[in-house]
Amino acid sequence: MCSFNFYAVFAALLVAPALVGARVPVTRTSMRETAANPAAVGLAPLALAHRTPLTNAQRLARGLTPNRPRFNRAGTIQVTGAGTGTPAFISRVPNAFGEYAVTTDTADALIVQYTDCADASVIDLATLNGIADVPYLGAITGFATALQDLRRGSSAYAYIGGTDQTAPGATPQAVSNSFMAATGDQEEAESALWTLNRTTGALSAQWVNIDGSKPETIIVYSPENFLVITGDPTIFGASFGTSPVVTLTFVAA
Ligand SMILES: *[C@@H]1O[C@H](CO)[C@@H](O)[C@H](O)[C@H]1NC(C)=O
Repeated sequence: MCSFNFYAVFAALLVAPALVGARVPVTRTSMRETAANPAAVGLAPLALAHRTPLTNAQRLARGLTPNRPRFNRAGTIQVTGAGTGTPAFISRVPNAFGEYAVTTDTADALIVQYTDCADASVIDLATLNGIADVPYLGAITGFATALQDLRRGSSAYAYIGGTDQTAPGATPQAVSNSFMAATGDQEEAESALWTLNRTTGALSAQWVNIDGSKPETIIVYSPENFLVITGDPTIFGASFGTSPVVTLTFVAA
């Protein structure tokens, strides 16, 4: 159970055609983008999972598979940094672009679950009450990013949103994701990019570039209420609006 979840990938393939069929291709302009999100037109609403994750009895009654076993750990993700509110959490409700927002309402905190494997260097965070069709907390290449590689000196970024599962160490993959489902703009994503300090709860992200290299990956909060990862918060801020660096902390349920 500690390895890559092939069942989840298979299940994802079953739901993928619905998302793909709904996609409306968006032509990326050659002009320099000044916003980190596209124009808010023609956005598709996303279905959410139940606010309170279902018990196994409820799941079985609905014909769903049981929850995964006991060595899974569930909790919320606290967001600390300028402009987020105190205390703030990643919200189970995405913004209109399919990016996870931040909330100070604990009733709306996203609940994530990971499998506790001592040997795992990076983990997946399955979302239990968030975007229903793409149930991993992942990173999705930014719409205004011509190159997917994060690095110092570049404004390149990736949104934190819902994705299907990708393997640990994988480069950006063409998997279903919430930004694509909401906007129709096709972007690639990574899910297994989280590192958790079991002692402190500190949660860090590690993006993998196209060549497999692992750039410094910094999480920032846009005042328009979404989170992105970037290799250079200063350049990102200069391009798309000042966005404070934040830290994420896993808070066990
Ligand atoms: C967890 O964080 C503490 C405090 O910053 C640090 O001393 C420790 O080395 C970290 N553990 C790991 C596995 O990174």
